[in-house]
Amino acid sequence: MKKENSVYDCVIRELPKIHNRAGNITALTSNIHIPFGIERVYYLYDVPGGSVRGGHAHKEMEALLVAASGSFDVLLDDGVNKKIVNLNRPYYGLYITSGVWRELLNFSSGAICIVLASRKYSEEDYIREYSEFKSYIHES
Ligand code: TYD
Repeated sequence: MKKENSVYDCVIRELPKIHNRAGNITALTSNIHIPFGIERVYYLYDVPGGSVRGGHAHKEMEALLVAASGSFDVLLDDGVNKKIVNLNRPYYGLYITSGVWRELLNFSSGAICIVLASRKYSEEDYIREYSEFKSYIHES
Protein backbone atom coordinates (compact mmCIF):
# COMPACT_ATOMS: atom_id res chain seq x y z
CA MET A 1 0.00 0.00 0.00
CA LYS A 2 1.44 3.36 -1.04
CA LYS A 3 1.31 6.25 1.38
CA GLU A 4 1.77 9.96 0.94
CA ASN A 5 4.12 10.76 3.73
CA SER A 6 6.10 13.92 4.01
CA VAL A 7 9.07 15.12 6.01
CA TYR A 8 6.56 17.35 7.84
CA ASP A 9 4.97 14.20 9.30
CA CYS A 10 8.37 13.38 10.82
CA VAL A 11 8.40 15.24 14.10
CA ILE A 12 10.37 15.45 17.30
CA ARG A 13 8.43 14.06 20.23
CA GLU A 14 9.32 14.97 23.77
CA LEU A 15 9.55 11.77 25.80
CA PRO A 16 8.76 11.38 29.48
CA LYS A 17 11.69 11.88 31.83
CA ILE A 18 11.56 10.58 35.37
CA HIS A 19 14.06 12.82 37.07
CA ASN A 20 16.06 11.54 39.98
CA ARG A 21 19.17 12.80 41.76
CA ALA A 22 20.70 9.40 41.10
CA GLY A 23 19.97 9.61 37.37
CA ASN A 24 17.02 9.81 35.00
CA ILE A 25 14.76 7.23 33.39
CA THR A 26 12.80 7.45 30.15
CA ALA A 27 10.22 4.69 29.71
CA LEU A 28 8.32 4.29 26.44
CA THR A 29 5.07 2.43 25.93
CA SER A 30 3.63 1.39 22.56
CA ASN A 31 0.77 3.55 21.29
CA ILE A 32 1.13 5.98 24.20
CA HIS A 33 4.51 7.69 23.89
CA ILE A 34 5.04 6.28 20.41
CA PRO A 35 2.36 6.42 17.68
CA PHE A 36 2.67 2.70 16.81
CA GLY A 37 3.17 -0.69 18.41
CA ILE A 38 6.85 -1.51 18.95
CA GLU A 39 7.73 -4.73 17.14
CA ARG A 40 11.52 -4.45 17.21
CA VAL A 41 14.27 -2.47 18.90
CA TYR A 42 17.79 -2.08 17.56
CA TYR A 43 20.65 0.28 18.23
CA LEU A 44 23.61 1.69 16.39
CA TYR A 45 26.85 2.10 18.30
CA ASP A 46 30.62 2.17 17.70
CA VAL A 47 29.89 4.25 14.60
CA PRO A 48 33.23 5.47 13.19
CA GLY A 49 33.54 9.22 12.71
CA GLY A 50 32.42 10.30 9.25
CA SER A 51 30.17 7.28 8.69
CA VAL A 52 26.77 7.68 7.08
CA ARG A 53 24.10 5.15 8.07
CA GLY A 54 20.63 4.65 6.68
CA GLY A 55 20.43 5.63 3.06
CA HIS A 56 17.08 3.99 2.51
CA ALA A 57 13.33 4.31 2.96
CA HIS A 58 10.80 1.82 4.25
CA LYS A 59 7.57 0.93 2.51
CA GLU A 60 5.66 0.24 5.73
CA MET A 61 7.92 0.50 8.75
CA GLU A 62 7.60 3.51 11.04
CA ALA A 63 10.31 4.31 13.55
CA LEU A 64 11.24 6.46 16.48
CA LEU A 65 14.93 7.34 16.74
CA VAL A 66 16.52 8.40 20.01
CA ALA A 67 20.05 9.58 20.69
CA ALA A 68 20.50 7.54 23.88
CA SER A 69 24.02 8.95 24.10
CA GLY A 70 25.89 11.58 22.11
CA SER A 71 24.43 13.15 19.00
CA PHE A 72 23.88 12.71 15.29
CA ASP A 73 21.95 14.29 12.43
CA VAL A 74 19.08 12.74 10.51
CA LEU A 75 18.52 13.89 6.94
CA LEU A 76 14.93 13.31 5.85
CA ASP A 77 13.75 13.44 2.25
CA ASP A 78 10.25 12.76 0.93
CA GLY A 79 11.23 13.29 -2.69
CA VAL A 80 9.99 16.90 -2.62
CA ASN A 81 11.19 18.39 0.64
CA LYS A 82 14.24 17.71 2.77
CA LYS A 83 15.05 18.54 6.34
CA ILE A 84 17.84 17.82 8.78
CA VAL A 85 17.12 17.09 12.43
CA ASN A 86 19.80 16.98 15.10
CA LEU A 87 19.21 14.51 17.91
CA ASN A 88 21.25 15.07 21.05
CA ARG A 89 19.07 14.28 24.10
CA PRO A 90 17.75 10.90 25.34
CA TYR A 91 14.35 12.46 26.08
CA TYR A 92 13.63 13.52 22.51
CA GLY A 93 12.59 11.06 19.81
CA LEU A 94 12.32 11.63 16.08
CA TYR A 95 9.28 9.91 14.59
CA ILE A 96 9.83 8.85 10.97
CA THR A 97 6.87 7.77 8.87
CA SER A 98 7.08 5.10 6.22
CA GLY A 99 7.95 6.28 2.72
CA VAL A 100 10.57 8.80 3.79
CA TRP A 101 14.22 8.51 2.81
CA ARG A 102 16.62 8.89 5.75
CA GLU A 103 20.36 9.21 6.24
CA LEU A 104 22.10 9.34 9.62
CA LEU A 105 25.35 11.28 9.76
CA ASN A 106 27.66 13.41 11.90
CA PHE A 107 27.73 10.88 14.72
CA SER A 108 29.58 12.15 17.76
CA SER A 109 32.13 9.92 19.41
CA GLY A 110 30.33 7.27 21.52
CA ALA A 111 26.90 8.10 20.07
CA ILE A 112 24.17 5.50 20.47
CA CYS A 113 21.06 5.61 18.28
CA ILE A 114 18.17 3.54 19.56
CA VAL A 115 15.57 2.68 16.93
CA LEU A 116 12.09 1.62 17.99
CA ALA A 117 10.50 0.05 14.93
CA SER A 118 6.91 -0.85 14.05
CA ARG A 119 7.90 -3.94 12.04
CA LYS A 120 10.09 -6.98 12.29
CA TYR A 121 13.16 -6.94 10.04
CA SER A 122 12.22 -7.56 6.44
CA GLU A 123 14.53 -6.76 3.55
CA GLU A 124 11.43 -6.54 1.30
CA ASP A 125 10.33 -3.47 3.25
CA TYR A 126 13.51 -1.57 2.29
CA ILE A 127 13.96 0.76 -0.67
CA ARG A 128 17.73 1.04 -0.89
CA GLU A 129 18.15 2.80 -4.24
CA TYR A 130 17.27 6.48 -4.37
CA SER A 131 16.07 6.17 -7.98
CA GLU A 132 13.73 3.37 -6.90
CA PHE A 133 12.50 5.58 -4.05
CA LYS A 134 11.66 8.37 -6.50
CA SER A 135 9.72 5.93 -8.69
CA TYR A 136 7.96 4.47 -5.65
CA ILE A 137 6.63 7.81 -4.42
CA HIS A 138 5.58 8.91 -7.89
CA GLU A 139 3.64 5.68 -8.44
CA SER A 140 1.38 6.36 -5.46
P1 TYD B 1 20.56 -1.34 7.72
O1 TYD B 1 19.15 -1.21 8.17
O2 TYD B 1 20.84 -1.12 6.27
O3 TYD B 1 21.48 -0.35 8.58
P2 TYD B 1 21.53 1.25 8.67
O4 TYD B 1 20.22 1.77 8.20
O5 TYD B 1 21.78 1.54 10.09
O6 TYD B 1 22.66 1.72 7.84
O7 TYD B 1 21.10 -2.74 8.17
C1 TYD B 1 22.46 -3.09 8.06
C2 TYD B 1 22.55 -4.60 7.99
O8 TYD B 1 22.04 -5.19 9.18
C3 TYD B 1 21.77 -5.20 6.82
O9 TYD B 1 22.56 -6.24 6.26
C4 TYD B 1 20.56 -5.82 7.46
C5 TYD B 1 21.00 -6.10 8.88
N1 TYD B 1 19.91 -5.95 9.85
C6 TYD B 1 19.27 -7.06 10.37
O10 TYD B 1 19.62 -8.22 10.06
N2 TYD B 1 18.25 -6.90 11.26
C7 TYD B 1 17.82 -5.67 11.64
O11 TYD B 1 16.87 -5.54 12.45
C8 TYD B 1 18.47 -4.50 11.08
C9 TYD B 1 18.07 -3.11 11.45
C10 TYD B 1 19.51 -4.71 10.19
